[in-house]
Amino acid sequence: MDTIEWDDSLSVNVDLIDEQHKELIKRINAISKAVDSHQSPEVTLNTLSFMSDYTDFHFSTEEKHMKEHNYPAMDLHLAQHKEFKDMVKHMIEDFEEEGPTPALGKSINTYLLNWLIEHIKGIDSKLGEFLKDKPITE
Ligand SMILES: [Fe+2]
Repeated sequence: MDTIEWDDSLSVNVDLIDEQHKELIKRINAISKAVDSHQSPEVTLNTLSFMSDYTDFHFSTEEKHMKEHNYPAMDLHLAQHKEFKDMVKHMIEDFEEEGPTPALGKSINTYLLNWLIEHIKGIDSKLGEFLKDKPITE
């Protein structure tokens, strides 16, 4: 299964957000690895919730800064975050019901990784452009 590595093409020019994206990518890669190496359902489920917790934390960081600085495109961005969170929630529910099926493996690749890359390169880099001269530290 695919894993990805963070590189400069994924930079949004805000260090804090870049660091959080690196961590998120690590946690998604850990899910791919758990599925690939046929870890027990408990272990795989842990990697999913570990990623899901970090996603919540990371999205709230971005959202906090959008609100603080009255980011004009906030609604669209928030809608995308909600879409991702809903997707992860469904994935966890499916996993709890059906275990590590090939379909789950495929959705991790298709949805989590592709969605994240597209989100970072598209809407997050626009946000980064907006925030890059503002003091963003936590
Ligand atoms: Fe975002």
